[in-house]
Amino acid sequence: MVPEAVRIVEVGPRDGLQNERTPIPTATKLELIRRLRQAGLQKVEATSFVSPKWVPQMADAGDVLQALTASDDATHYPVLTPNLKGFARAIEAGAREVAVFAAASESFSRKNINCSIDESIDRFTPVLEAAREHGVAVRGYVSCVMGCPYEGDVEPEKVAAVAERLHTLGCYEISLGDTIGTGNPRLTERLVAAVAERVPLSALAVHFHDTYGQALANILTALNMGICVVDSAVSGLGGCPYARGASGNVATEDVVYMLHGMGIETGVDLQQLVAASWFIAAELGRKPGSKVAIAMGQPK
Ligand code: HMG
Ligand code: MG
Repeated sequence: MVPEAVRIVEVGPRDGLQNERTPIPTATKLELIRRLRQAGLQKVEATSFVSPKWVPQMADAGDVLQALTASDDATHYPVLTPNLKGFARAIEAGAREVAVFAAASESFSRKNINCSIDESIDRFTPVLEAAREHGVAVRGYVSCVMGCPYEGDVEPEKVAAVAERLHTLGCYEISLGDTIGTGNPRLTERLVAAVAERVPLSALAVHFHDTYGQALANILTALNMGICVVDSAVSGLGGCPYARGASGNVATEDVVYMLHGMGIETGVDLQQLVAASWFIAAELGRKPGSKVAIAMGQPK
């Protein structure tokens, strides 16, 4: 049975924009985030305190978060922190929620954060300790939960083991990322069943990329199994710079349209969300990557 309400974690400004090649002005990022909040999204992953040498697009992370937290509650704006250095930068900019990100595949872990899975957990341990001292909530990601661009298929048990380690470290929620979008509903069932053996369903979220058009079907499968938290990106923004062939995240507009149609609450105003989608698409010089945004058309 599907839940009555779903919490959406909007990841477009981070997971989406991190992948854009041309520099996006800080003011444009802030305007997008302002519009997303106005549309009713309670969690907008705003930016990423990673190395600017690795992801130049996120080099303005401090400016972005500082501007947001100057006028709004920082708990609305989780940010990525791969290590203590990133955590310190995030705290300085006012962060109240951060996310660490591991992978279920060794090769992806190396390409993405330059260390093994074990080493990544060792790096996250002091981040979780520092977060506890600061009273900052920590979310955990597991990437490549249904496929890896370097290793192919990924066994659900491997994902479950990494998810459990993050949960045991103190992550309040574990987001399961189908980074390259190769999953399908059958694989989603196997994945959620395996992870739920080790982490409570109430502490799980799903994060689907729509590379093969399977994301909505996968989300529905996860909801039917008791998951109530869904990551998505306005306008279907995204991809991962370290996962060749990964296309965008599932579009938030498409998720909201489906959920509202099914009578499931999200707290999001679809019209305003579609307007935000057209806004960022115009800034990036293309059409929205959302079927719903295209169908509803550009707001006058
Ligand atoms: P490294 O090169 O091994 O790190 O990178 P290092 O500790 O050796 O440091 C190298 C240099 O970077 C040093 O500077 C550090 O100070 C600096 P130098 O002495 O050469 O001038 N540095 C930093 N600077 C700013 N902020 C920091 C930071 N850390 C080190 N936090 C590192 C290791 C993890 C830093 C690097 O690999 C990195 O930044 N990776 C991030 C890659 C990334 O952002 N990937 C995309 C996000 S994950 C994703 O999209 C998947 C997800 O969405 C789920 C899904 O879709 O499935 C979450
Ligand atoms: Mg992602």
